[in-house]
Amino acid sequence: MSTIDEVKARIDIVDLVSEAGVKLRHAGKNYTGFCPFHDNKHTPAFVVWPESGTWRCFGQCNEGGDIFKFVMKKEGIDFKEALQKLAARAGVEIKEYQRETPQQREVYDTLRKLLEDAVVFYRSHLFANREILAYLREKRGLTDATIETFGLGYAPPGYDNVLRHFIQRGVKEQELLDAGLLSEREDGKRFDRFRHRIMIPIRDENGKMAGFGARIVDPNDIPKFLNSPETPIFSKGRLLYGLDRARKPIRAADQAVIVEGYLDVIALHQAGYENVVSPMGTALTEEQLRLLKRFTRKIVLALDPDTAGQKAVLRGLEAARSAMDREGELRFDARGLLRNEARLQADLRVASMPDDLDPDEIVARDREEWKKLIENAKPIVEHVMVSLAEGKNLNDRRVVNEIANQVLPLISDLPTPADREFFTQRLARFLKVDERAFISAQAQGPRVRRPRQQTEKRQPVEKSTLAVAVSSSKLVEEYVIGVLFRKPELLYRLDRQLQEYGLLPLNVQDFDFTDNQMLFGLIRESVEQDKTEHHTFVAEAVPESLLGLSRDLLAQTEKLERVEEKLLEELLRSVIKMRRVTAGENLNQLRFLQEEAHQAGDLRAAPYTELVLRNTKLLRDLDQAYRKMSQKRLE
Ligand code: GTP
Ligand code: MN
Repeated sequence: MSTIDEVKARIDIVDLVSEAGVKLRHAGKNYTGFCPFHDNKHTPAFVVWPESGTWRCFGQCNEGGDIFKFVMKKEGIDFKEALQKLAARAGVEIKEYQRETPQQREVYDTLRKLLEDAVVFYRSHLFANREILAYLREKRGLTDATIETFGLGYAPPGYDNVLRHFIQRGVKEQELLDAGLLSEREDGKRFDRFRHRIMIPIRDENGKMAGFGARIVDPNDIPKFLNSPETPIFSKGRLLYGLDRARKPIRAADQAVIVEGYLDVIALHQAGYENVVSPMGTALTEEQLRLLKRFTRKIVLALDPDTAGQKAVLRGLEAARSAMDREGELRFDARGLLRNEARLQADLRVASMPDDLDPDEIVARDREEWKKLIENAKPIVEHVMVSLAEGKNLNDRRVVNEIANQVLPLISDLPTPADREFFTQRLARFLKVDERAFISAQAQGPRVRRPRQQTEKRQPVEKSTLAVAVSSSKLVEEYVIGVLFRKPELLYRLDRQLQEYGLLPLNVQDFDFTDNQMLFGLIRESVEQDKTEHHTFVAEAVPESLLGLSRDLLAQTEKLERVEEKLLEELLRSVIKMRRVTAGENLNQLRFLQEEAHQAGDLRAAPYTELVLRNTKLLRDLDQAYRKMSQKRLE
């Protein structure tokens, strides 16, 4: 979930609006009250839909939105400030998506260019060195095509090969240092960071150079792997090795596999398993999982036997996460993973490697075996259960108790009662004990989780999480915004078609959610100017607080319908659907409002009657448009 969605999920709009002094009353599924934004005190025209977390004013304002828009209007602040305010209230940490400023981009592009040149440099040294080549080809079984594809190279021994090569070509020492190609001694002397190592270029998910991983050639050298230092473009916690090549296969397979090793990624890709990525010697971060989630929610962790085996699982249960984030330390923490799984609504599974083998050794021995291992990946809880029991005597009551004591807290952390029940049963069956012994675990449910809540009586978190997750109108909105975000120029043609069917052009009020409304504003602006290419205009104008959303939208729309006519038709259909849902909701609500007005003695309830007429006509027009569309298709 994005930060924005998470904040929405945790704040109940009814609470928020009530606290702002609006007295709300039940009206059907929804709530009504006097609109705080215009001063008509006769008719309650302000409606809140708790399910979708949105509001609308049927009076003078004729406007609506979600919690963000409400706070923006109420306090006269912008989206970013509203997000900060509400995130603080919800106890959600705001992930800063740093946009590169044009100056920064220039600097970063220079660094990336330098790194590309370094790839070429190391490559030429690899192909000049028979021994290293032989190692890669024979010992590691890599084909020349693979070596080329992954851009492997070799850093020669000596302290100034890179230094001299690039200085001679006019590169500044400082730039080499900034790119992470040099190290600096205390006395300020600079020298090649990578020496006598196999060089593995690391790219971001878009294929842009970020840094290097470097493996020893001499088994006595340490450390075994040396990475680029953290630089503005190389951040280990944020990158996944291989993702530039794996993203399409991941999407196609609707599954990502995470291994622990650059060479394992390379070997698996070579064997035809291309949905594989690896972290870079650090614990798997939430950010990395989030990054993967843009391509699939099904993630399998294929963990090394030594690090992920029992030792790691046990330690993972006890140790604090921070203690494990050390470089080169183990990377599996069941509790942390479970928490991320729930929060990200991902499906995380664990596949363990047999016989102390690395993934590359497994595919080398039997290509099919890999497939089976991945197919047999187990949910985290089950993996912990089985790992803990390995080699133990399950007839010993002490052993059984010990395992139950370790696993039950994990189970009670699971987000849904159904999951808790399922795994409690599993555990009981596995340990051959009566599951009633464990009853308390499932009843309890998660203990911490809930953010600071202003009022104890309402517990909106889980309820509204669901609402946000399943609301189909949100999905339709996101589709429309996603397509237009990628191809703003379609907006013209969409508008024209809408008008041909007697409908209004697309407008901000077609969108319920503030973030979508804002992006739509930018899309509209982009087509109304002609200085900059439309998409570039939008991309550059996106405020920092929406960068996360816009990245997600781009990822989601990577595979759009190619035939523009069809795409346009889908778009049109979606807009009609959005408007139908809204008009239907409006009509339902207006009936309540009319009734209230009647009860208050306003028998004509004129404004509402007019709105009812307008929405009824709109529904009719929409249906007619829809029919015409279908007819046209048949012709
Ligand atoms: P081979 O031993 O050549 O098969 O390489 P491997 O990629 O399988 O390495 P290994 O299983 O030893 O380690 C897995 C991953 O952990 C590596 O790819 C690195 O990302 C990371 N790693 C291992 N050792 C170190 C180290 O000393 N320093 C750092 N920074 N990372 C390491
Ligand atoms: Mn290995």
